[in-house]
Amino acid sequence: MRHKRILVTRYGGPEVIGAIEEDVPAPKAREVRVKVLAAGVGLPDILAREGVHPETPRLPYTPGWDLVGSIDELGEGVTGFELHQTVAAMPIHGCYAQYVCIPQRKLVAVSEGLDAAEAVAVVLNYVTAYQMLHRSAKARSGQRMLIHGASGGVGSAMLQLAKLAGVEMYGTCSAEGAPVVRDLGGIPIDYKNADFVKEIHRLAGDGVDAVFDGIGGANLWRSRDALREGGRVVTYGFQSKMRGGRMAVRSKGRHPIRESAEIGGFIFRNWFKPGRKSMVPYSIQWFMRFKPAWFRHDLRTLLDLLREGRIKPLIAERLPLEEARRAHEMLGAGGVIGKIVLLPNGCVSR
Ligand SMILES: NC(=O)c1ccc[n+]([C@@H]2O[C@H](COP(=O)([O-])OP(=O)(O)OC[C@H]3O[C@@H](n4cnc5c(N)ncnc54)[C@H](OP(=O)(O)O)[C@@H]3O)[C@@H](O)[C@H]2O)c1
Repeated sequence: MRHKRILVTRYGGPEVIGAIEEDVPAPKAREVRVKVLAAGVGLPDILAREGVHPETPRLPYTPGWDLVGSIDELGEGVTGFELHQTVAAMPIHGCYAQYVCIPQRKLVAVSEGLDAAEAVAVVLNYVTAYQMLHRSAKARSGQRMLIHGASGGVGSAMLQLAKLAGVEMYGTCSAEGAPVVRDLGGIPIDYKNADFVKEIHRLAGDGVDAVFDGIGGANLWRSRDALREGGRVVTYGFQSKMRGGRMAVRSKGRHPIRESAEIGGFIFRNWFKPGRKSMVPYSIQWFMRFKPAWFRHDLRTLLDLLREGRIKPLIAERLPLEEARRAHEMLGAGGVIGKIVLLPNGCVSR
């Protein structure tokens, strides 16, 4: 049997995204082959394509952090899973394909009947939002927090989870995203036309308990200024280094560690700043590697919330696999509300 797989053969813009057709892979011992129903597209995919994400794979590679699919073949020694069962996984790359082989230990069962695109949005975006909210910021009901990029994939997930936790959320977004932020229970702040630090102090007095900052660079100091005493910045990205979906700083060349190291420098300097304000990093891949039980627990909790209808991921677009390049162009251009999802094996029910 043949299948299609997306391939990146050099680092760069969306034009480096191509496709190949090949024989479907065979699962090794303790692996299953998954027929991919939905693969998520997110900013980490763009950063890897640019060669600047700490998880950038060696070339050539197939992008795609997360998937939801149906088990199509069981490798030798697989137990606890059966043919045609729906599963989710976050192998970090490789998901932009019609069929993928994945070690059994990386799978989490997904209830039948869930929409695959909504379920895949839960994997990277909601686990990131949930762990930042509950494990990094230790949210309590009645607290006030700020998320940047509130109408995006992680941001909209954070707003839904914060509402369930009784946390009052402020969210920076562009003007087009404001109605969505408001609908999800957040208080929008137009980051293009207002100073978010001033707005937070106007709206929340002495500041917020936590800021979730995926913007990075000098924005981290401004996020710190929005905190009250004893508050915490959770730093988890470096979007400020991007312009129109491309890495803005060209002269230094590509390096998968430099931007993360820069975040480390901010955290270090924060220790010497006046005031009791902490700054901590968050990385889903490190949580998954060092706290795999947390990752599985949190993903299962979120899939249960999805099944119960208590969260509802915003799906910006459902695109065929062949449109992976367009998906990157759209995400890079900005203004995307929610999550872009690829459907490598055709449409699935909504
Ligand atoms: N550390 C981790 O484990 C982890 C995991 C997942 C994601 N991430 C990071 O999370 C961030 C968000 O990812 P995503 O997939 O949710 O991206 P996304 O869907 O593209 O959302 C990003 C949002 O940020 C907004 N934005 C851009 N510049 C901004 C600024 N200066 N201030 C406020 N908002 C701004 C964009 O709004 P407009 O387009 O309307 O301007 C967009 O809505 C990225 O930095 C990504 O690398 C980190």
